[in-house]
Amino acid sequence: MRIVLLGAPGAGKGTQGTALAEQFGVPHVSSGELLRAEMAAGTPLGGEVGDIVARGELVPDDLVLSIVGRALNEAIKSGGYVLDGFPRTVEQARRAFELAVPAGIEADFVVYLAVPDDIVRERLAGRHEGRVDDGDPEVVQRRLDLFHAETEPLLAFYRGRGILREIDAKGTPDDVRENVLAALR
Ligand code: AP5
Repeated sequence: MRIVLLGAPGAGKGTQGTALAEQFGVPHVSSGELLRAEMAAGTPLGGEVGDIVARGELVPDDLVLSIVGRALNEAIKSGGYVLDGFPRTVEQARRAFELAVPAGIEADFVVYLAVPDDIVRERLAGRHEGRVDDGDPEVVQRRLDLFHAETEPLLAFYRGRGILREIDAKGTPDDVRENVLAALR
């Protein structure tokens, strides 16, 4: 199974990604987690992206593509992936599609977790993991603005390909998981 999760910051991509990966027995690949691991390890790439992530801006496409591409090539050896946080721009989606089709690893489904902005603001305010991009309401707003401007246009791209599943993701994590599984059946 190869699934891409789309949604606003705080929509529940990480929460559902972990559960779906377990359900389908494939790796969960999160672009945000990969970037934070580089930052925590103090690698050159982590140093390059740290300030960008802290401001809620998008990391340049080339950097994200290289790091996610490596992780997906590993994941696919285990039979698939649940990918969360990537692609996030039309350019990322276009380039990923060009690479995925000849390799036969394009997504089976794109799951969009739809949650209103006020609910995601509450969820992010309630998360206390010490993430550099959660504490400042202006940074959270910037992440939301970029989601609407850069990522939402992907919905039309995937709808056109007939693989988009739009999920009401306002409920509890278990409710959302049920909604996702029902949409994939
Ligand atoms: P990333 O890590 O992808 O962050 P995000 O998209 O902002 O999403 P979050 O991780 O905050 O939320 P989520 O949707 O995973 O929800 P979660 O399950 O955690 O990216 C971080 C940064 O990295 C970006 O801003 C950018 O700088 C950079 N980046 C990453 N990918 C990139 C790319 N492709 N291109 C360029 N830059 C990139 O849940 C959130 C909270 O809500 C948790 O506390 C959770 O417990 C709770 N929760 C979850 N579901 C529910 C529910 N149903 N009900 C109540 N609470 C819930």
